[in-house]
Amino acid sequence: MPTIIDIQGLTKTYAGGFEALKSVDLQINEGEIFALLGPNGAGKTTLINIVCGIVNPTAGRVLVGGHDIVTEFRETRARIGLVPQELPTESFETVWNTCRFSRGLFGKGADAAHLEKVLRSVSLWDKKDSPCMQLSGGMKRRVLIAKALAHEPEILFLDEPTAGVDVELRQDMWGVVKDLRAEGVTVILTTHYIEEAEQLAERVGVINHGEIIVVEEKDRLMRELGKKQLTLHLYDELGAVPSMLDNYGLELSDDRFELTYTYDTKGEHTGITDLIKDLRDAGIRFNDLQTSQSSLEDIFVDLVNTGR
Ligand SMILES: Nc1ncnc2c1ncn2[C@@H]1O[C@H](COP(=O)(O)OP(=O)(O)O)[C@@H](O)[C@H]1O
Ligand SMILES: [Mg+2]
Repeated sequence: MPTIIDIQGLTKTYAGGFEALKSVDLQINEGEIFALLGPNGAGKTTLINIVCGIVNPTAGRVLVGGHDIVTEFRETRARIGLVPQELPTESFETVWNTCRFSRGLFGKGADAAHLEKVLRSVSLWDKKDSPCMQLSGGMKRRVLIAKALAHEPEILFLDEPTAGVDVELRQDMWGVVKDLRAEGVTVILTTHYIEEAEQLAERVGVINHGEIIVVEEKDRLMRELGKKQLTLHLYDELGAVPSMLDNYGLELSDDRFELTYTYDTKGEHTGITDLIKDLRDAGIRFNDLQTSQSSLEDIFVDLVNTGR
C-alpha cells in the first residue's frame, strides 16, 4: 500500500519549553485504519493537530499525499477531515448548515446528495434542521463526524471519538468507520480503549511521552496486549512458590497471601484449569480469586521498561 502520510523527525516544543513530540517518524498507508494509542498527555492530539495545520511543528516534516503540510497547507488540508477531541461551543446553526458551510470552506461546490448520504450514515438525517445546541452530546459528536466528512476528505482523523460516549453510540461509530474504510478513506483514530483499537484498526502505534514506542500490525500487538491476570487469595501464608509450579510464572505478593498468574486471553488454552489442579496437588488452598486485564498504561510501562 502506498504511503499517504509521511511523518519524519516531527518535534513539537510548546511555548513553555515542554517537548510534546520528540522526533516522531510515522508512515500511514493509504486506505488503512490506524489507531494511535497512548495515555493522556502522550502527544496524540498534538500530532494530529500538526498534520491538520492547527499547531505549528518545531522541527521535522509531514507530507500528505506527497505535499508538504506547511508550504502547501491548502492542498493538504483539503484532503483531510478532522473530528476534534473537544466538542465545540454551542452553535445556533442547524446540523445541515453546519455541514454545508464546512464543505464550502474547503472550496467544494454544494452537493446536497453527498450531505444527505453523510448525515444518514451517522443517523442524523432526521435532525438535519435542528440547531446543534439542542442535540445531545452523542449527537453533537456525530455532527462533528458529518462536518468532517462534508468535503469528501481522503483522510479522516478521529481524535478520541468515543471518549465519554455510551456503548451503543460507540458501536455506531465503529460502524461508520468501517463503512468509510470500505469506501477507501484512510482513517487515523486516537484512543485509549484497547477494545476500540482491537475492533477497528489494522495497524496500531503506541505513543508515550511524545515518542512512538511501537508500530505494529494490530493482530500481533493485541496478542501481546491481550494479557489478563488471575489473582488468588490464599488461605495460608506461602513461603515460596513450589518448584512444581515453576512453568506458570506465578508471582507471590510481598505479604505472601496472593498469587498472581498472567495469561494470554488470545491463546487457545489459558492454563487456568491446569493451574487450579496443580495448586490442589501442591496443597495450596485459596479462598477468593479475581481476574483483571492489564490497562494500556500498564502495558506502556512494560513497553518502556523493556526498551521496545
Ligand atoms: N498549547 C499547549 N501549551 C503547552 N503544553 C501543551 C499544549 N497543548 C498540549 N500541551 C502538553 O503537551 C502534552 C501532550 O498533549 P496532547 O497532545 O494533548 O496529548 P494527548 O492528546 O495524547 O492526551 C501534554 O503534556 C500537554 O499538557
Ligand atoms: Mg488528546
